Amino acid sequence: MTRIGIHDLAVATTHHVVELDDLAEAAGVDPAKYRLGLGQERMSFPAPDDDVVTIGAAAAAPILERHGADGIRTVLFATESGVDQSKSGGVFVHRLLGLPPTVRTVELKQACYGGTAALQTALGIVARDPRERVLVISSDIARYELDSPGEPTQGAAAVAMLVSADPDILEIEPIAGVNTTDVDDFWRPTDSTTAIVDGALSLDAYLHSVTGAWDDYRAQGGPDVDEIHRFVYHQPFTKMARKAHAHLAAHTGVELPVETLETSFRYNRVLGNSYTASLFVGLAAVLDHEDDLAGTRIGLFSYGSGSVSEIITGIVQDGYREHSRRDETAAALAARVRLPLDDYRALHAATTTSSADVETPHVTTRPYRFAGVRGRARHYE
Ligand code: HMG
Repeated sequence: MTRIGIHDLAVATTHHVVELDDLAEAAGVDPAKYRLGLGQERMSFPAPDDDVVTIGAAAAAPILERHGADGIRTVLFATESGVDQSKSGGVFVHRLLGLPPTVRTVELKQACYGGTAALQTALGIVARDPRERVLVISSDIARYELDSPGEPTQGAAAVAMLVSADPDILEIEPIAGVNTTDVDDFWRPTDSTTAIVDGALSLDAYLHSVTGAWDDYRAQGGPDVDEIHRFVYHQPFTKMARKAHAHLAAHTGVELPVETLETSFRYNRVLGNSYTASLFVGLAAVLDHEDDLAGTRIGLFSYGSGSVSEIITGIVQDGYREHSRRDETAAALAARVRLPLDDYRALHAATTTSSADVETPHVTTRPYRFAGVRGRARHYE
């Protein structure tokens, strides 16, 4: 049987970053609540000319530079921060990257689960024709209302993955455990730039989904918990992954040390929630910071509010370290410009669902930017 999986992955983020210590000070909150209580230090924040298209293109460009576009006949763009109700953000990315017209392009949505749905779709396309390679882009900007409990769990990032036969990095195994439960824990109405969330319910729904997906994974014949060497969870804030791991340990009756999650937090702690990208940001952090994973099995838990969740596993490939983009990711994180709190609040408040014509100020120094709206259509350069 053909081995199929992740051949390359790259992370990108926004121009700005907000220090959660600044947020805590302004809110009169103990900074330890964010650092330890949530496990977060910083959150990426978009400049006016950043959005999910520009950071998605920034994540995908280095993949095309390394591998070229041969065999790519599909772009799957996963987001819950879509820039249009009809047109896929992926079509803008397709043009920015100079991809040929012989590529089908579509956007997928189911809260943070959308990236995993895109990955599963890509695996199916490559299984049908192993000559094909699929570009999967998960890109999101997490927004909650100012002064709400969700505010310190905002963030932004994009992950691009090339899915192919004979992957260099992670072979995805065929067995998956899934769980769909209709729940109003988190959603974003079409007229709102911020999510509505029932925090306590969202935590419960996430944990319920961990065990639901796990039980299905086992029922499908998936290996037992002690045959999975590393777990990576969707990280709305890194403490959530600790809760999930403890919950899985209690459910299975097997001791699962939370310290083994530490490396998966390295990027998410300083990016914040990146919705569809978050799980794969965690995967990138593990692959970039652990040297001895070749041949081991990694379990990936994906949760999207509303809710759909899934557990999949992958086998780390020999030589995966040679394909690491650790230095590039470190550079993207370090290049972010710290946003003073007053400026952050002003930018946040100025975000709108309006499609009125506007020229966007030139702020970002990265290669792709949202230039503005003309004739009610978005323009990128
Ligand atoms: P909150 O009101 O800040 O909660 O809301 P809290 O008062 O319970 O405090 C949080 C933690 O900080 C607690 O730890 C406190 O003890 C601790 P815990 O008991 O839970 O382990 N704490 C301190 N620790 C150290 N020093 C201190 C201190 N003070 C308190 N001084 C909440 C927290 C996460 C609910 C809020 O930020 C929120 O609503 N966030 C958005 C929703 C969310 O992220 N939900 C997660 C599950 S749903 C999901 O993952 C899907 C999602 O990504 C969306 C999608 O699918 O698209 C969100």
